[in-house]
Amino acid sequence: MATQLPRLLPLLLFLPFFHIAASTSPSGLHPVVLLPDTTCSQLEARLTDAYVPPSPQCAAHHKDHDGRWFRLWKNTTELDDPAVAPCVADQLRLVFDHVAGDYRNVPGVETRVLDFGSTRGFLADEPANRNRCMGRLVEALEELGYRDGENLFGAPYDFRQSPVALGQPCRAFSRYRQRLRALVEHASRANGDRPVVLVSHSEGGYFALEFLNRSPLPWRRRHIKHFVMASTGAGGFVRFMEVVASCVSDVSPLARVRRSVPSKFTPLPSPKVFDRDTPLVVTRDKNYTAHDMPAFLAAAGLPEFEVTLYETRELPMAMNFRAPVVPTTCINGIGVPTAEKLVYWDGNFGEAPEIVYGDGDGLVNSASILALDTVIGDDPMQQYYKSIKIAGMYHAGVISDGVALERLISEILRESFVQDSKKVDYRRVAQL
Ligand SMILES: *[C@@H]1O[C@H](CO)[C@@H](O)[C@H](O)[C@H]1NC(C)=O
Ligand SMILES: *[C@@H]1O[C@H](CO)[C@@H](O)[C@H](O)[C@H]1NC(C)=O
Repeated sequence: MATQLPRLLPLLLFLPFFHIAASTSPSGLHPVVLLPDTTCSQLEARLTDAYVPPSPQCAAHHKDHDGRWFRLWKNTTELDDPAVAPCVADQLRLVFDHVAGDYRNVPGVETRVLDFGSTRGFLADEPANRNRCMGRLVEALEELGYRDGENLFGAPYDFRQSPVALGQPCRAFSRYRQRLRALVEHASRANGDRPVVLVSHSEGGYFALEFLNRSPLPWRRRHIKHFVMASTGAGGFVRFMEVVASCVSDVSPLARVRRSVPSKFTPLPSPKVFDRDTPLVVTRDKNYTAHDMPAFLAAAGLPEFEVTLYETRELPMAMNFRAPVVPTTCINGIGVPTAEKLVYWDGNFGEAPEIVYGDGDGLVNSASILALDTVIGDDPMQQYYKSIKIAGMYHAGVISDGVALERLISEILRESFVQDSKKVDYRRVAQL
């Protein structure tokens, strides 16, 4: 299958030739807007007098900032310093404002994403995050003639927040939707009114999909040429239950941050995809399926009001995962051992569980990936849907591995959307 496609990567190796070819016709490209994975977006912060540092030591540290914007996420130097990390974590955490019914920063902390509109603010400048945070994808696009700020744009988001159910207050997501809408319109206008290709990876998919679903249909049809969603399943993934369980007992500064933010709920396995008969967490006394999530969260130690927040803000959102009704291609890895069941035999959720593996991309379960075909593909409103499943490809490999990247880029460049088969390329690996 892959051999029938334009062989882009060999071209990339012959960069000088290709550069010339690309730069003579840059106008032929559709503008691309990228939404990266969680924690790939960076955040800046500014402190006001209302901020109360958690310790005298932190107070001394914060004096340096003197009312200026500074890099809150991610400053590895500070996070690696045990004296400073708790100070940073205190500013990174969110609190739930019961009056407003919404999550917000700690009083006295203002935040904004770094470089909205550009891909330069992604954390890909850290070698360890280059592949995961679209570094190689951006490079490959630039080698094809894409230019940051001209026809290539980044839509970083505050990864601590999450899209929530309609009717629930969420200032962060409302504001993000407005900015992304303006960015898409600008990208299109600046490129001869060509509609935009929206490309997301992992957590970015939730933001992109909900952004689309809340935009008026005529707007979507006018402005979005193609939505390419990489490595996002229709129903979250099992391993995330461990993330939530561990941040309750873990007392490290960053675990405190994770615990405080609503995005800790976003990719929890959803009852839309995982059935009532499949235990995802097993203990001696009780098993938990995706339908028992509130009971699991309570057993893991989350206070009752937070469990309620999951039920009112996040669960309806997960159940509402639906077709964006613009041409959509989902591209996922499959055939990589993936946690399918977590065994906490003694019911101690603070300990590492024993893991039973099944199929998926190493993080997202195949059940969640396959459900895209029904949830999006079978929606009668969805006119063009294609699912590409790459055997043996892991979660971040979909946007960084040579073969997968070639496939991804050929989809980004796709000109026409004639529906042949909606579900291609699924080659199940016989034995894991
Ligand atoms: C990270 O923190 C260190 C120490 O506080 C500071 O010197 C440096 O400028 C910060 N880096 C960024 C990118 O703000
Ligand atoms: C939990 O599920 C396992 C199978 O995964 C089953 O063998 C066991 O009996 C179940 N335990 C309870 C308490 O229901």
